[in-house]
Amino acid sequence: MERCPEPELMDDAEQARAYAQADFSRAHQAVVALFQRRFGNVAGIALDLGCGPGDVTIRFARAYPELHLLGIDGSEAMLAEGRQAVAALGLAHQITLERRFLPDPTLPAAAFDVVVSNSLLHHLSDPAALWRAVRHAARAGAPVLVVDLCRAESPEAARALTAEHAAGAPEVLARDFYNSLLAAYTVAEVTQQLAAAGLGSLHAETTDELHLAVWGHAPARA
Ligand SMILES: C[S@@+](CC[C@H](N)C(=O)[O-])C[C@H]1O[C@@H](n2cnc3c(N)ncnc32)[C@H](O)[C@@H]1O
Repeated sequence: MERCPEPELMDDAEQARAYAQADFSRAHQAVVALFQRRFGNVAGIALDLGCGPGDVTIRFARAYPELHLLGIDGSEAMLAEGRQAVAALGLAHQITLERRFLPDPTLPAAAFDVVVSNSLLHHLSDPAALWRAVRHAARAGAPVLVVDLCRAESPEAARALTAEHAAGAPEVLARDFYNSLLAAYTVAEVTQQLAAAGLGSLHAETTDELHLAVWGHAPARA
């Protein structure tokens, strides 16, 4: 099935609130668990690209108390939710959230010891924006983990997956989930994107019926 893009930013306040209040604990904790299995212990400064309301950022902060995290997102509505959560949990000393829209050439170069991203890639009409950011911001050898949905085989398959995995979710979220399954990239497309971005040191694979993961160590900057 051809990719069917969805809007990049989630900057509607109602959408951001519904997303921030949804229970993504299983999927989000799985991202942290996958990172821990692949990379073990880490410290330093981490970058979370497309952090949204910061739930994954917060989970990384809790798993790695030595890590400082910068979460960036282009949506002020999402960041407002995230800042509230970070303050309420007393994690402001460990997490900073900044409004930045990718592509962003002003991101500090080779400055991050870890780069992660969850569920951003499928929003991007130009996926190279994410891979350029990884290449630019990660220091050589930094652990990188990018997790996203895989594109469904057909609209019917996307409907079935939505019925199974978004049952009982608010309508705005179920609709987003369905649209995301149509907008996501395939492992083959991501593998091509990585090669084109000079990120052949990263490996893309499916992790379950919904997700793909890209992981590995960042190369030295060209
Ligand atoms: C599905 S949410 C994922 C949020 C978070 N990573 C999580 O796992 O809960 C995707 C986020 O990417 C952000 N986004 C989309 N395109 C972007 C861009 N070009 N630059 C920065 N953020 C972007 C959206 O605003 C949204 O908050």
